[in-house]
Amino acid sequence: MKSIYLVGFMGSGKTSIATYLQSRLEWPVQDTDQMIEEHYQMNIPSIFKEKGEETFREYETNILHMTKQEKTIVATGGGIIEKEMNRKWLQTNGTVVFLQTSWEEIERRLMDDVSRPIWNNKSRDKQRLLEERLPKYLEVADYVIYTDGKSVEEIASEIISKINA
Ligand code: S3P
Repeated sequence: MKSIYLVGFMGSGKTSIATYLQSRLEWPVQDTDQMIEEHYQMNIPSIFKEKGEETFREYETNILHMTKQEKTIVATGGGIIEKEMNRKWLQTNGTVVFLQTSWEEIERRLMDDVSRPIWNNKSRDKQRLLEERLPKYLEVADYVIYTDGKSVEEIASEIISKINA
């Protein structure tokens, strides 16, 4: 069975849902942000600050290609769908689940976040970024799951029933 790639905007719950799915499916989890930090020995805010977003995106593509394509749950970074190359790769190699979350819910969940460089960049319009990314998430998605108002358990059960259907 192909790996499950969780895609969605920052704050859509990819990491926590991946962890919960791990216990349900008994598949290992990979997290592209974590893999970037380990492989390049730098944390994400430092990569953005010292190398810039373009370099971060290059690292992200390299790491995407290193993920396991069999029976693994892969939590991806919110911007993985920015590159057409990544979108094509995901469509070809994975079962892609888009965790769709409203702007209001994202704002609420990330209210106190200080760890995400794009979220914390005051000069960027994040709501517009979400709107711009939406068609890209939909383009790669095999399944779309709405996450607003749902628990991690509910979302994981929906994913499992979709992939088993
Ligand atoms: C990013 C999302 C982050 C991380 C980086 C860039 C983005 O991951 O990859 O800060 O461009 O949306 P999460 O979606 O896990 O926050």
